[in-house]
Amino acid sequence: MTAEIKALGYVGLEVSDMDRWMHFAGDLLGIPASRRDDGSVDLRLDAYSCRIRLIEGARDDLAFAGWEVSDARALEALAVRLMDAGIAAERPGPEVAKDRRVRDLIRFSDSEGTVLEAFYGPLQRTDAPPVSPYGVRFKTGRQGLGHIVLACRDKARMMDFYTDVLGFRISDHIETEVISGRPLSISFLRCNGRHHSLALAPVPIPRKIVHLMVEAEQLDDVGRAMYRCLENGVHLSFTLGRHSNDEMLSFYPMSPSGFDIEYGWGGLEVDDEGWHVVTHATNSAWGHHFQRPPKKNADAG
Ligand SMILES: [Fe+2]
Repeated sequence: MTAEIKALGYVGLEVSDMDRWMHFAGDLLGIPASRRDDGSVDLRLDAYSCRIRLIEGARDDLAFAGWEVSDARALEALAVRLMDAGIAAERPGPEVAKDRRVRDLIRFSDSEGTVLEAFYGPLQRTDAPPVSPYGVRFKTGRQGLGHIVLACRDKARMMDFYTDVLGFRISDHIETEVISGRPLSISFLRCNGRHHSLALAPVPIPRKIVHLMVEAEQLDDVGRAMYRCLENGVHLSFTLGRHSNDEMLSFYPMSPSGFDIEYGWGGLEVDDEGWHVVTHATNSAWGHHFQRPPKKNADAG
C-alpha cells in the first residue's frame, strides 16, 4: 500500500503553566519560543514556522499531532483511505489551516480518540531561522520533528490503526520492565528514515502523551541541556542513557506539564532494504535509570 504520511510535522500541547513552559523550552532546552497574539506559543526547531505549539489549557496533554503528507493529492488519497476504513475525517477549513500555517489539513482520531491532523504545505521561514540561545540545531528534515510516545489501553487495536490504515511500518518491539515488576511491551513505528516517529506503550497514566522527543545535531548540546536542567531543579524521569533499539543517547527532563521531553542525539536511521523486526529485552544499552517524580507531579507508576 502507498503510505501518504511522510513525517511528524507538528504537535500541539495543551499546557497549564505557559510561563514555566517558555522558561523550560527556551532557557533550558534551547528551543526558541515566541508568543502569538492569541496567547499561544510557537516553538521552532527549523525553517517550519511552528513545530511545537503550546496552547494554554488545563489538560497538560497532547492536543493534536500533525502528520505531514507531500501534497494535495496525497491528502485527498489519505482522506479516501480513511473513509474506506470507516473513519470519519473532517476538513476544518481555511481558518484552522491558517492557524496551523499549512495549506490544507484534515482531522480525524485514532482508535483511542487522539486528535490527529494530516496536512500539506507547511509555511517555511527560511528568511528568519530560529535562533537558539545556545546555538542548538535540531535534526529534522525528512525525519520530521522527532517522535511521540502515546499511552494506550488497547495496543493491538492502535497498532492495526496506525499500520493498516495509516501505513506506518513496525521497526521493532521492546519487552521489558522499565519499572521493576511491571512487564511492558512497547512497539515502535516509522513513516520515514527515523527509527520511529511514534511508539505505543500500554502504560496506565492519566494522559495520552508519554513523551515527545527532539534530537539535537550535536552530542554536546545534550550534555549542556542536561546540566541546565539539573542546575535549575528540573526532575529527570530517566537519567542519561542510550536506547537499545534506536541508539538514541538521551535524557528525559519532566516538563512543567508532568510528561517528559526526551532530549537526544545520534538516533539510528533505518534503511528499509536491510531492516528486519526484532524484539529487544531492554529499553537501553546503558543508563536511562527511572527516577520517581516528586509527589506533586506524580503520574500513576
Ligand atoms: Fe523516545
